[in-house]
Amino acid sequence: MEFPFEASNTFAELFASMAEGVIMVDQSGMILMANHMAEDMFGYPPHALVGIKMEALLPERFRGRHMDLRSQFASDPRPRRMGVGRDLKAIRKDATEFPVEISLSFTRKNEELLVMAFISDITARKRYEDDLKRSEEQLLLYASELEKKVQSRTEALNQSVINLESEVTERKKAEAEVRKLLEKERELNELKSKFVSIASHEFRTPLSTIMSSASLVNQYKERGDLDKITKHTQRIRSSVNHLTGILNDFLSLSKLEEGKLYVVNEPLMIEDFFNEVAEDMIPTLKEGQYIKSTGDCSRTTIDSDPRILRNILFNLISNASKYSENKPIHLLYECSDTEFTFRVRDEGMGIPSEDKKHIFTRFFRASNAGNIQGTGLGLNIVKRYVDLLGGIIVFESEYEKGATFSVTIPI
Ligand SMILES: Nc1ncnc2c1ncn2[C@@H]1O[C@H](COP(=O)(O)OP(=O)(O)O)[C@@H](O)[C@H]1O
Ligand SMILES: [Mg+2]
Repeated sequence: MEFPFEASNTFAELFASMAEGVIMVDQSGMILMANHMAEDMFGYPPHALVGIKMEALLPERFRGRHMDLRSQFASDPRPRRMGVGRDLKAIRKDATEFPVEISLSFTRKNEELLVMAFISDITARKRYEDDLKRSEEQLLLYASELEKKVQSRTEALNQSVINLESEVTERKKAEAEVRKLLEKERELNELKSKFVSIASHEFRTPLSTIMSSASLVNQYKERGDLDKITKHTQRIRSSVNHLTGILNDFLSLSKLEEGKLYVVNEPLMIEDFFNEVAEDMIPTLKEGQYIKSTGDCSRTTIDSDPRILRNILFNLISNASKYSENKPIHLLYECSDTEFTFRVRDEGMGIPSEDKKHIFTRFFRASNAGNIQGTGLGLNIVKRYVDLLGGIIVFESEYEKGATFSVTIPI
């Protein structure tokens, strides 16, 4: 190996045996010297690199720029690494490219700047880095796919939880409905069996009264005793009334139970309506009883359901009659802009305090009802009618002084 300057043997040996390619160029870029490694790396036979231009070792696209860089280096020579942050490429004699890493150093000989390039072929490292990068990318891709998968699974899971939840609610709803139906059916059955027992009990007295009075009427007819005949026809009539009352109650109740009762409003002449009801009730009253009707309304009509109102009034008035003697029954009504109130007041036996809270319960009868006939259904029905009209019912009673039932409905 020839050196363009004096070199010790040690240096020559070092130079020859270096694991990096070393090339020395002069200021014009011509190669003055190359070690064996450099020749190997670039695929040149021994000594073939000397005398050629440095640019011949670069891919054509870098050559122009390289000449600029070389003159820059010449104006401010410092040992440095080349192409930091860029991928440097070199070209072999057979025109194949390979990645390199280059550091530069320099020396001077008789004022001339000689540049030394230390070149490493980093193909293997590059490949390794690329592989690493690729597998890193693949890993990232895989991770993001995994994440997407997890996300979509989670969504699916959430959806199925939601579905399950709504299924459970549906099922619960259905169960509740079935339970309600069963409960209703049970109540209806209970009602029916209660009706049979009440009917057999409650019907016996009026029916035997009717039987005996009817046969007595026959006897008195033969004797021509008109007073007695009147008395017994009156008895027959009140027994029939009582039976009709019970049957009406059961009819109302079963309709209410089946939910078949609808409110049908129509304009009502208030005064006429109350007079009519009072008149219709007169035949059912006991001797010595009469209805005193008083109204105080600024309006003459209301919109309401006459059938339901009539049923409520029939029930309240017949109670007032049943649970009092020889006293008037007061029928009062009044109205405000938004409400209509009517009251039925009697001066009878009243309701014992301890019974008051049960008074609207089905089949309940107060302790002082004694053997006065009744089923304990009327007030329960009345309450439900009032509910249908969106109104309220309240009562006041003093034991042995009488009772007042007040119904208020919106208008
Ligand atoms: N005006 C009233 N005066 C006293 N007690 C009453 C009056 N109205 C209702 N009651 C009591 O309330 C109970 C329930 O009334 P109701 O449901 O109409 O049944 P019933 O008249 O068939 O017994 C009656 O048994 C009675 O004890
Ligand atoms: Mg009653």
